[in-house]
Amino acid sequence: CIDLSTLYKDTGHFTFDPGFGATASTKSAITYIDGDQGVLLYRGYPIEQLAEKSSFLEVAYLLLHGELPKKDEFAAFEHQITHHTMMHESLKNFFQGFHHDAHPMAMLAAAVASLSAFYHDDLNVDDPEDRKLAAIRLIAKMPTIAAACYRYSIGWPFRYPRNNLEYVSRFLHMMFEVPSEPLQLNPVAAKALDLLFILHADHEQNASTSTVRLVGSTGANPYASIAAGITALWGPAHGGANEAVLKMLEEIGTPDQVEKAVLRAKDKNDNFRLMGFGHRVYKNFDPRAKIIREMTHKVLGELGVNDPLLEVAVKLEEAALKDDYFVERKLYPNVDFYSGIIYKALNIPTEMFTVMFAIARTAGWIAHWIEQHETPGSRIGRPRQLYVGSGVRDYVPADKR
Ligand code: ACO
Repeated sequence: CIDLSTLYKDTGHFTFDPGFGATASTKSAITYIDGDQGVLLYRGYPIEQLAEKSSFLEVAYLLLHGELPKKDEFAAFEHQITHHTMMHESLKNFFQGFHHDAHPMAMLAAAVASLSAFYHDDLNVDDPEDRKLAAIRLIAKMPTIAAACYRYSIGWPFRYPRNNLEYVSRFLHMMFEVPSEPLQLNPVAAKALDLLFILHADHEQNASTSTVRLVGSTGANPYASIAAGITALWGPAHGGANEAVLKMLEEIGTPDQVEKAVLRAKDKNDNFRLMGFGHRVYKNFDPRAKIIREMTHKVLGELGVNDPLLEVAVKLEEAALKDDYFVERKLYPNVDFYSGIIYKALNIPTEMFTVMFAIARTAGWIAHWIEQHETPGSRIGRPRQLYVGSGVRDYVPADKR
């Protein structure tokens, strides 16, 4: 019989780190986070500066190439993105197989995985040009596929991408255009969505990015790798939190119910958590949450939206920040706490919130996938385990058990 206590003695250096709280799985030059100070940099640029001065497509270029683009470089990048926005006509057939009330994240993951069935034969993951093309295709097609997920779910015909529009406006047009009505694009909505996309574009080795890298480490097709990232993002502890926050705020309903919610969140016999609170890395304010909080008031004001849930959210934040339980555990609002209120003001349905996140994070995911393939000596990701099961035992025939 194996003595389990001796099992891991001769394996050299071996760490047990559930949830990878203290383990760096890779080196990366893309994004820097200082969780204690609440600092987030993309390629060295503070998120606050990018949020104020840049655009999502420029940030996507920065994440992919490591430098901000010169004017002609940006024009060429935008041109390439614009010319890859269409999804293959056959891909439309995939949607017909989904039940009418399928969650858009389920459809998105499946549709993006199916891109690997369209772009595979001539794709060489070791060729930098092929990798670049995969990145362009993904960033370009993601809004088209995302809008198709929404329109399928409400039974509307898909819209083709209008390539004379900019990235975010093109997406809003595909989402919301009603054939019988003249196209009306709200510049405030486009600007707000672009800003949210910047804030969500990358966040180093979170669960979904690590998933993309793990799948990518096997040499898998990039579209399959990104589809795996989408499924990881969907969970409520990760990107699904934005949808969960809004449902929680609706459930709380009114500011006078906030105290009860805080009490529930502290009760260890209750599974209820304050969604949009806490972060593995930030033990200080999430800098993205600060930007979004400010922006929420501004956007709702500019759009003339008076959402009572904003008052509930503000009260909840105030109550939690004063409460010892949250203070001791350094639980602050994260990026998802206020983003849902903005999405709601932009008429984006709750089930589409995590899809919005996925469109933006695609830039980060594919930048990491490229970095991984550019790094000499990259190895397959292969975590170990501590075995705690039975020692060796003999098979017992069914009639003797
Ligand atoms: N509400 C109440 N208590 C919480 C919360 C919360 N939102 N988050 C953490 N805690 C408590 C835990 O119960 C635990 O308490 P204990 O020490 O008494 O056992 C302590 O704080 C530490 O929590 P962990 O779960 O160990 O922290 P971890 O780093 O593993 O999890 C996570 C981080 C998943 C973000 C967590 O804070 C959470 O579930 N938050 C709510 C979901 C959410 O907003 N997710 C989005 C994260 S941002 C993003 O992915 C885009």
